[in-house]
Amino acid sequence: MDKIIIHGGKRLSGSLPISGAKNAALTLLPCALLTDEPLTLRNLPRLADIDGFQHLLNQFGVSTSIAGSRPEDFGRVMTLAATRITSTVAPYELVRKMRASILVLGPMLARMGEATVSLPGGCAIGNRPIDLHLKALEAFGARIELASGYVRAIAPDGGLPGGRYSFPVVSVGATENALMAAVLASGKSTLHNAAREPEIVDLCNLLVAMGAEIQGIGTSDLIIHGVPRLHGATYRVMSDRIEAGSYACAAAITGGDVFLKDAVIEEMEATVQALRDAGVHVEPRAGGIYVAADGPLRAVTLSTAPYPGFATDMQAQLMALLCRAEGASVLTETIFENRYMHVPELNRMGAHIETKGRTAIVHGVPRLTGADVMATDLRASMSLVIAGLAAEGETSVHRLYHLDRGYERLEEKLALIGADIERVGGD
Ligand code: UD1
Repeated sequence: MDKIIIHGGKRLSGSLPISGAKNAALTLLPCALLTDEPLTLRNLPRLADIDGFQHLLNQFGVSTSIAGSRPEDFGRVMTLAATRITSTVAPYELVRKMRASILVLGPMLARMGEATVSLPGGCAIGNRPIDLHLKALEAFGARIELASGYVRAIAPDGGLPGGRYSFPVVSVGATENALMAAVLASGKSTLHNAAREPEIVDLCNLLVAMGAEIQGIGTSDLIIHGVPRLHGATYRVMSDRIEAGSYACAAAITGGDVFLKDAVIEEMEATVQALRDAGVHVEPRAGGIYVAADGPLRAVTLSTAPYPGFATDMQAQLMALLCRAEGASVLTETIFENRYMHVPELNRMGAHIETKGRTAIVHGVPRLTGADVMATDLRASMSLVIAGLAAEGETSVHRLYHLDRGYERLEEKLALIGADIERVGGD
């Protein structure tokens, strides 16, 4: 298996392009199921998860084509056409590999009146149930059956009537599934305490471009007036705020500076605030964000929270940065119960991090040292890359499968700003 080798200690400086957002793309792709007309998505990141989702949609009879983009381009354009859906079942083999597959449940149910999806099961960062997805669909009139590891959702008389649901906790995935189910309902639906992440706004904007009627976009109260049919659209996937934040941490830990082209500061205010609190300079510039770290890094105390709070998807990368800050930082993970797998690996690189339940205390250290490391989830893997960029000597990051799921051509982008990084075969 491939690994990434980093020779740390180089000051990163320059400009790099931010790709389309993985987490937005994975909820925009299933919207193709909502119409028999073509949906064209621009700025789709080239990632293993996107390929996996395309494969899943192909299983349902959705045709997909990729417009001629050159290999050296970042991103690509995909046209999806669900002219005729030939299967309403998302099988275990595909769902097991990609949790986001659960996001076909709502749109498939809306379009076909039924959908069967394998239960995704647990994953490395915690239990990750889907009960709220199912409760929201039930509230909109679906009948839910669980059998043999599969969930089957059925709409009475072929169509959902719509309804009202109030989320007991904020869930990004369940909000997305509920929205995609409600847009074709025969009546009005309301969602309270809905997630407000920019990726949800991106989903709403696409649905509106396809003819949906949604009020309250960007707030936690959404009102959806169902329409009889949606039409095709061409839509550009938003920029990846988590990728942008990750590269900001990467540049900052080396005392460097970077222009993050296409990053949108309004969508990542909590990350920007955390970086500023840590002593990093961040400013919006035409077409992107400029980040520079030339003074000492400072300790930070924060908790992850649903948007507009600090994203759980940025916790590991910020922690890597704070390993080099002066003083003790206190990070609390409130979204997932098991999202500190990077801690023992960072400690193997010379970091000094203690965890107690959901809280991590990061004691800043004067230096990190290279090591062989691996992580069991995407953002944890990125935190090891960030630490490796600042570490003395050589760091080998193994198990690249996770990074390839979520960072488009990571080593190429880091090399653009001066990192000594290469991917080699063999593990
Ligand atoms: C979550 C993050 C999202 C991140 C993604 C990948 C939040 C609010 N969500 O989204 O930012 O991009 O992970 O790392 O930060 N829950 C239930 N029942 C459900 C669904 C969720 O109890 O049916 C709980 C989860 O266990 C979790 C919380 O709700 O504690 C939020 O989960 P949710 O937002 O649904 O997870 P993702 O959509 O995966």
